[in-house]
Amino acid sequence: MKILAVETSCDETAAAVVNGESKSNKVILLSSKISSSFSLHAKTGGIIPEIAAREQIKYVVPVIEGALTEAKLRWSKDKAPEIDAIAVTIGPGLIGSLLVGIETAKTLSFIWKKPIVPVNHLMGHVYANFVAKKRDKQITFPALCLVVSGGHTDLLVMKGHKNLTWIGGTRDDAAGEAFDKIGRILKLNYPGGPEIEKAAKKGKPRFNLPKPMINSKDYDFSFSGLKTAVLKEIRNNNLDNHLISDMSFAVQKTIIDVLISKTFKAAKQYRVKTVLVSGGVAANQYLRDRFEQKAKESGFSLSIPEKSLCTDNAAMIGAAAFYNYSPIDWKKVIADPELYFDNV
Ligand code: KG4
Ligand code: ZN
Repeated sequence: MKILAVETSCDETAAAVVNGESKSNKVILLSSKISSSFSLHAKTGGIIPEIAAREQIKYVVPVIEGALTEAKLRWSKDKAPEIDAIAVTIGPGLIGSLLVGIETAKTLSFIWKKPIVPVNHLMGHVYANFVAKKRDKQITFPALCLVVSGGHTDLLVMKGHKNLTWIGGTRDDAAGEAFDKIGRILKLNYPGGPEIEKAAKKGKPRFNLPKPMINSKDYDFSFSGLKTAVLKEIRNNNLDNHLISDMSFAVQKTIIDVLISKTFKAAKQYRVKTVLVSGGVAANQYLRDRFEQKAKESGFSLSIPEKSLCTDNAAMIGAAAFYNYSPIDWKKVIADPELYFDNV
């Protein structure tokens, strides 16, 4: 089953074509295109929703065309491409941005007479782990999923497809949001995550930051206090390169210490076989190395998607659609309220 997937929940405009193979139960990636407006947001130090949506209006059609072409699918005025469905992110996300993707998908569904599969963005991040470039990807259930992005820090137990239970998440800032906000305090470019990772490479252990909720009995997180701790530490210091590197080192280590501690505690308690980590922050190499080391020590199998599938993309939306296939017929898409904002 070939699925064209569209993702426009934040500042990216992404489209992909995946092939879900029912026999082998695998999703093979045929193409993936992403256009990001983040360089525009770098100027303002954060995403301006209005600017993101306006950029998405410009790029959504070329990005979809690019994905179909890369997947070697042909279409013309009178002939739809050979796809079986269109998957689209319906939330959570920025309303203006979501609307661009949803309305485009609805129009294509109506013209091409293809059903739409609505997808939750968080589910998409989980399913980035199920996108295979080759046929060798195998994940054993039960699994413990950590989704760690700019909007989410969530832990879920996955007993199988369509069988996910949320067990905890952040009570305030998401881990990526903490990286971004602290990046701004350290006068680094937006988004702060990759910049902090870069600066941390030259950093030395010097600051001891608090590890919020690391010992709490639940599986919740809290990262908003970290900003205040960083502000306090740098208050009486000159913000020079040494300070930025040493503080980046401390912030990265603190956030990842907390993520590792909670994730593996849950993995043990729920007796899972596999740990799945995804979302933009999972593109961090230090995080990947630490999770790999911990998984090896504690005997869990580990899956972290390749870096391009950790940050927002449409391939993960296609994979989520295949494994949770629940289509809306093209004749109904114009009026179906199911196609609007899932803010779970
Ligand atoms: O998944 P994503 O692209 O979008 C959301 O759904 O939020 O995640 C974006 C987040 C940003 O907060 C960004 O700073 C963070 O992921 N991020 C990183 C790295 N790359 C992206 N954080 C730490 N290290 C990185 N290398
Ligand atoms: Zn995301």
